[in-house]
Amino acid sequence: MFEIIEKKVLVPSIVFMKVKAPEIAAAAHPGQFVMLRVDEIGERFPMSLAGWDKDEGTVDIIFYVLGTSTVKLATLKEGESILNMAGPLGKPTEVDSFGRVICACGCFGIGPTLPLVKALKEKGCEVITVVEARSREAVFWEDRLREASDEVHFVLGDGSGGGKCWTDDYIGHLLSRGVHIDRIFVHGCPFMMMKCAESSREFGVKTIVSLLPMMVDGTGMCGACRVEVGGETRFACVDGPDFDGHEVNWDGHVLRLRHLTTEESRSYSLWERENWHKLMDISPKADLLQEREERQVASKKRKVPCKIQLVF
Ligand SMILES: Cc1cc2nc3c(=O)[nH]c(=O)nc-3n(C[C@H](O)[C@H](O)[C@H](O)COP(=O)(O)OP(=O)(O)OC[C@H]3O[C@@H](n4cnc5c(N)ncnc54)[C@H](O)[C@@H]3O)c2cc1C
Ligand code: FES
Repeated sequence: MFEIIEKKVLVPSIVFMKVKAPEIAAAAHPGQFVMLRVDEIGERFPMSLAGWDKDEGTVDIIFYVLGTSTVKLATLKEGESILNMAGPLGKPTEVDSFGRVICACGCFGIGPTLPLVKALKEKGCEVITVVEARSREAVFWEDRLREASDEVHFVLGDGSGGGKCWTDDYIGHLLSRGVHIDRIFVHGCPFMMMKCAESSREFGVKTIVSLLPMMVDGTGMCGACRVEVGGETRFACVDGPDFDGHEVNWDGHVLRLRHLTTEESRSYSLWERENWHKLMDISPKADLLQEREERQVASKKRKVPCKIQLVF
């Protein structure tokens, strides 16, 4: 059992947890993740490490409250425990004296970006952190990012940052002005990572993305997390989750992510029918439910980008 030492709703629908896990904390590196199971009937699902403290024996996770497993996790309180937490898993991010780097992040991706920025700074890199969010209200850890990075820039979808653009526009703009960048790291939703990789491709700047495929065991045995990179099949849990964004088959990746949407929705509805009262503890509940509804509508409208047959 892994005790929750601290829990905080950082911004609507994004929750921070500090969990007692001394063995994981002792071995953790930037870019790695843990596999969680909230209770005996729960599924195993991955969460990136957003921080760790070897002395106090704790690890931090930050998650977006999305469906059954993350809602169940969000309803746990300080002092309660997560049933299973296995890790650290995955290959650590390659951290070296690269020179000037961009660390781009959005949503819960701000979490794993912070330890990466710190590690890159320790290696002497100049770190430009770019945070993408739909508005200022969705940004958290601004102070921590500013303290760790050389520069922090915000690209806000509602234009409140001055100028309406996204991270890929920012990267493209910087590179086309001739600003020298040695490496780019991106933690965010698959669409953001794909767009960032597209924007840096013509300039040949290596762009490392942290992929988020469906994972079941997290140890290379089930094949659920397979992705096509450089024309080869790779397992994100053991070969990644970091990959060269210019080599990822994004259409295949996105398609695989979506193929259980109906079951996920049904699973959440069933859980909610029995446990709606627990949602009262996740503040603010109205935001959570409204966002979920909007996401479902948007997901139905979205077009699948290519016609690939899914073979499981
Ligand atoms: C290496 C890795 C690190 C991750 N780190 C974080 C993190 O730090 N914070 C965070 O909020 N999320 C993270 N995720 C995504 C997170 O695992 C999913 O959001 C979560 O499993 C959703 O489960 P659910 O039951 O709440 O939602 P569901 O409604 O069941 O699923 C919603 C969507 O989440 C994704 N998903 C569902 N189950 C899994 C699974 N077993 N494995 C991977 N993706 C799944 C799918 O895209 C699915 O369409 C990470 C994923 C990976 C692969
Ligand atoms: S999650 Fe099973 S092989 Fe990667």
